[in-house]
Formats: sequence, structure tokens, C-alpha cells
Amino acid sequence: MRQFNSILITGGCGFIGSNFIRYLLEESDFTGHIVNVDSLTYAGNPESLADIADQYRERYQFEKADICDIKRIDQIFDQYQIDCVIHFAAESHVDRSIFGPKDFVQTNVIGSFNLLEIARKHWGVRLSPIKEDLLFHHISTDEVFGSLDETGYFYEDTVYDPRSPYSASKAASDHLVNAYFHTYSVPITISNCSNNYGPYQFPEKLIPLMILNMLEGKPLPIYGDGKNVRDWLYVGDHCRGIWRIVRQGKIGETYNIGGNNEQRNIDLINRLCEKIARATGKHPDELKKLIAYVPDRLGHDRRYAVNCDKIKSELGWEPAVDFDRGLDMTVAWYLSHQEWIDQIRSGGYQKWIETNYDAKSSN
Ligand code: NAD
Ligand code: DAU
Repeated sequence: MRQFNSILITGGCGFIGSNFIRYLLEESDFTGHIVNVDSLTYAGNPESLADIADQYRERYQFEKADICDIKRIDQIFDQYQIDCVIHFAAESHVDRSIFGPKDFVQTNVIGSFNLLEIARKHWGVRLSPIKEDLLFHHISTDEVFGSLDETGYFYEDTVYDPRSPYSASKAASDHLVNAYFHTYSVPITISNCSNNYGPYQFPEKLIPLMILNMLEGKPLPIYGDGKNVRDWLYVGDHCRGIWRIVRQGKIGETYNIGGNNEQRNIDLINRLCEKIARATGKHPDELKKLIAYVPDRLGHDRRYAVNCDKIKSELGWEPAVDFDRGLDMTVAWYLSHQEWIDQIRSGGYQKWIETNYDAKSSN
């Protein structure tokens, strides 16, 4: 099993990154140091880790930095003697990529390229046998494989067929990561995961958006006919899977991660209506009346389904949280974190960033 001393996590103030840092410090066997590099876009909220920053002062460091700023990344690599990169930072929302693709190319492609360049520079070209004491793990998505009809699955060797600017930019970064392995022997692994849900997810994504709209009595927008299918995985299960790959995955390999849990959007929303009704004492029909069919997302992928035999058979990982329990935990989390929601809704956390970070860094 690989051991690391100093892990650079990019995008650690986002949804999955913050859950992963929490997992690493509170649940995993990792005993080293973490540097979280995040530029704090609209999706990055350092408040999601405020307690962690406090509690693990000795082992956790936050650096407000953009992965597109290659000099700064270089300096951070140097300063912290990074021996492992786990790369989450990205523009992650498909709808935003449709209306403004440029940021997606910038962060997801150029930013990933910068990180690879810096890793290559610091770690050097290492011809075989590749040493196991360094690793660049890239977090990617099942969306790079395109869209499925009613049958079939995405496998690790499914031909890439991205259809949105978001998935195209993620596919480009996957190719670069693989190229740096084959060309320069940078030790890499990649994971392609399905839709995550759970605490700290920004309420532009389906599940938190629907929960908050139900609580606020706002319309529940369903794109197209509502029959698009996604495979949902609890974020904590994703975190365990990533750590398993980082510790034991074969260098140069890609692993699919999924929930084996396909849901049509309309069924998922109806189920959430039942859960929120139970939690708030409202009648489910009152919530279901909020459902509003709206024009479809441009190029809306019909169905995603991920085959996870490889990670199961090679690394012994499979999801542990079933969908019903995961949704209950997620609903309970949003119901008990009103302050976090208010900050997001008001943009208050962005003002907090200006006071706490931008002021400091301009001193
Ligand atoms: P998110 O949007 O919640 O968080 C992204 C984080 O990256 C934010 O904290 C943001 O501030 C930071 N960031 C963005 N641009 C940056 C830059 N240029 N420099 C430094 N930091 C920057 O995203 P997420 O849902 O947590 O997704 C994390 C990763 O997982 C992404 O790579 C995404 O493609 C992948 N992924 C997400 C899902 C999902 O369902 N959410 C599923 C599979 C894969
Ligand atoms: O599959 C992994 C991907 O899952 C990740 O790579 C992305 O970062 C992540 O955002 C997610 O992409 P999706 O586009 O599948 O997620 P989203 O939550 O935006 O939408 C889920 C489904 O719900 C999709 O079919 C579109 C639909 N939808 C979404 C929203 C926000 C609606 O019907 N109404 C909505 O308001």
C-alpha cells in the first residue's frame, strides 16, 4: 500500500473535495499533511471546512490559489514537498458550461495541464519500474463516455464521446493525464464517477436544488420529460473509493466508480417530495404540485450507468450507503444546516472570503 506525507488537494472547498478532506482527517488511516488549494469560485466555500481548519491546524493548510496560476502552484509544490496530488478542482455544472464554456476550458483543461507540468517538473521523469511513492490522482466523471440508450453500461475502456462543454473539458483533462503517464512516466490514476449527492453540495445540482425549493415552496424545474436517468452515489462512498485507488490502485489505470443505482429524474423528485413531506409535516401532494416541466437542457444526455466490476474485484470497493438511507441523511443535513444555506443563498460566504483571504493576501 502506498504511503504519502504531503497531499495536495485541489478544489477542497467544493462539494466532493470538502467531503474528501473531512473523510481523510476524520475517518481514514492517513497521518500526513494536507494542503488544500482552491481559488474559491462561486462553488468554493471555506466555511464548509471551518471546523476542520480549526481542529487540524497542524495537519491541514488552506492556500487560496488558482490552478491556472502556474507560478503559484510551483511554489506551493516546493514549499510543502508534495508527494501526492488529488485533483478535484473544476468547473463542474453542465448547465453553466452550456451558457459559458470558456471557464470550463480554462480551469478543467489549462488548470489540469499546469498541475501535470508542475508534477513532472518536481517529480522528474521516472522510467520503469515506476516508483510507488508519488501519485497524481485525477477525479473525473462518467459523462466523458457520452449517453446511453435504455440498455448497456460505461466500462473503463468505453470509447470517449463527451457531448457537453463540461464533459468535453473533463475528457480533455483525462487524455492529458494519460499522456503524462505514457510520455513522461508521471505516476497517475484516474477515477470516473457517476452523480454524487450528500452534504455540502451547491444548490444548483438536482438534489439540493429540489430540497431547498421544496422547503421554500418554489417551483421544481424538471428538464424535458423527466425520464433522463442518472446513477446516484453517496459522496462518502465516493471518498472511500478514491482513497482506495490512491492507496492501492494500479499506476496508469482508470477505475469507474458508481452507485449501481439508476433513477429517472421524475421518480427521484417524487421520492424527495415524500421525504420532505414526512420531515416537515406537509402533505406530499402539496410539494408535488410544485413540479414544473421546463424546456430541456441543450444536448441533454439521456442515461448514465456505470459498470464497477473492476474496482470491486481489484480493490474490494463497493457502495455501502443505500439510496434510501443516503437521501434521508442528505435531507436531514440540509434541514439542520440553515446557516450554510443562508450563506450560499445570500452570497454571504463570498463577502467572508473578501474579508478573510483577499484582504490578507493583498497585505
Ligand atoms: P464543485 O463545483 O462543488 O467544486 C469545485 C471546487 O473547485 C470549488 O471549491 C471551486 O472553488 C474550485 N475551483 C474551481 N476552479 C478552480 C481553479 N481554477 N483553481 C482552484 N480551484 C478551483 O465540484 P464537485 O461537484 O465537488 O466536483 C469535484 C470534482 O469531481 C470535479 O472535478 C468534477 O468534475 C468531479 N465529479 C463530480 C461529480 C458530481 O456529481 N458532483 C461526479 C463525478 C465527478
Ligand atoms: O455524472 C456525473 C456528473 O453528475 C458530474 O460530472 C457533474 O459534475 C455533476 O454536476 C452531475 O452532472 P448532471 O448534469 O448529471 O447533474 P445535475 O444535478 O445538473 O442534473 C441531474 C439530472 O437532473 C440531469 O438529467 C438534469 C436534470 N435536472 C437538473 C437540474 C439542475 C433537472 O431536471 N432540473 C434541474 O433543475
